[in-house]
Amino acid sequence: MKNFKKFWKLGRKDFNTEHFDINDDGELIIREGNYQYNVYDLARKFNASIEIFLPFILEERLRHLQEVFSDNSKKLGYKGKFTYHFPMKVNQNKECVLPLVAEGSHLEVSSANELWLVKKLWEGESFHSKIRVICNGPKTPPYIRLIEQLRNNGLAIVPIVEDLHEMELLKDYKGDLGVRINLQSKVKAHWDKKVDRFGLNADEILELGKIRNLKILHYHISSQVEKESDMVIVLREAFDTYVKLRRKNPSIDTIDIGGGFAIPYEEKKLYSIESVVKKLLSSLCEMSDLAGIPHPNLIAEWGRYIAAPAQMTVFKVVTAKPIPQGITAKQWYVIDGSFMNDLLDTWAIHQKWHIVPANQMKAAKKHRVWLVGLTCDSDDKYTASDGYLLMPRLEDLSPGDDQFVAVLDTGAYEDALAAHHCLLSSPTKIVLQNGLVTVARRRETPDDVGKLFGW
Ligand SMILES: Cc1ncc(COP(=O)(O)O)c(C=O)c1O
Repeated sequence: MKNFKKFWKLGRKDFNTEHFDINDDGELIIREGNYQYNVYDLARKFNASIEIFLPFILEERLRHLQEVFSDNSKKLGYKGKFTYHFPMKVNQNKECVLPLVAEGSHLEVSSANELWLVKKLWEGESFHSKIRVICNGPKTPPYIRLIEQLRNNGLAIVPIVEDLHEMELLKDYKGDLGVRINLQSKVKAHWDKKVDRFGLNADEILELGKIRNLKILHYHISSQVEKESDMVIVLREAFDTYVKLRRKNPSIDTIDIGGGFAIPYEEKKLYSIESVVKKLLSSLCEMSDLAGIPHPNLIAEWGRYIAAPAQMTVFKVVTAKPIPQGITAKQWYVIDGSFMNDLLDTWAIHQKWHIVPANQMKAAKKHRVWLVGLTCDSDDKYTASDGYLLMPRLEDLSPGDDQFVAVLDTGAYEDALAAHHCLLSSPTKIVLQNGLVTVARRRETPDDVGKLFGW
């Protein structure tokens, strides 16, 4: 018999699907230790479309990341300290941020509004006093006021200066400061741009001379960096400026390497966390020893890496329509949801996804399909970059049964980008943890959606 688990790439660490399997009835299941959840049952019960959020995956990924850093530090004799800061822009939902903080994550915010959420938790004494918050993004006056207020109240908060104007605004700031470097190196990534508008270049930073309370040199080269070697090349370039900066700024002791660790959305193999961490730390040790300086502390803000695999989005197929001849796919499967609204990067940057059926997973006969959303927009579709998806046939369903499809790795960025084209409702969000299913957000009613538009 065909190995369907292998066919759908489930139960594999290199595709972040270790917790997913197929039961005897050909339905998608999720395992959390000895607990088990049936995605097909959940999709029917909550009338998909649904987002299924899995905090135990977040926690496991963060714990593993911390272990990999600490094991390699010991092996390589790295004397600096590693801290992980979760970039809130990746997923600001409470059910994502709180488990990470509980697991020891610090935070990175990119706007006054994100910082406002931190303020509420800090003032409600939900956060340990040791939590540190790094502030990226344009420093508008309300953002700076909030940073100062929180610092005065005792929060460890570090604004990162992104340009000369911000340097001027923050010159009297009394707390620790970081500066963002705009590196020369270009890396292979989907978001790669020839010109980067963030940060100061090395010469501009060095011309500033002494910078009051400078603590961190930060860069964020790109998201979804494709090549492992690029991660090391950019660290090497930044280290060069770090060494020069130290001469006039002995207070600096940390390099923040930002985000960029990639997710295998496209079902193709990428580098591993073990290998990247080893290369980063061994480069840091080697370069510092050569320069005769202490090993810098290291911060990583790998957001997608931690959050994407912790969510799947499940859609019901409401109908099928034939695609005209001469095209690789043979049928449109219309889903009860929308790529443009619920997984907006599909439309915006033609992101590819790892998509599997949630039932009929052992079907021998399948159709070549494209998925389309419910909006009126012809761009609301997923064509696997003009390839096709193999999906079970609707005609093989038992009477009254529905076909569901699960889009994996949707836990990063998609929620905050979500839209309401054609006033469709966003999916219900459920959270699976410790064997329990909780509803984090119900599917919007027509009134809820109307309210967003002033009705
Ligand atoms: C400053 C900064 N840090 C971290 C991240 C997270 O990047 P990723 O999710 O690719 O790891 C971003 C994303 O845009 C960012 O701008």
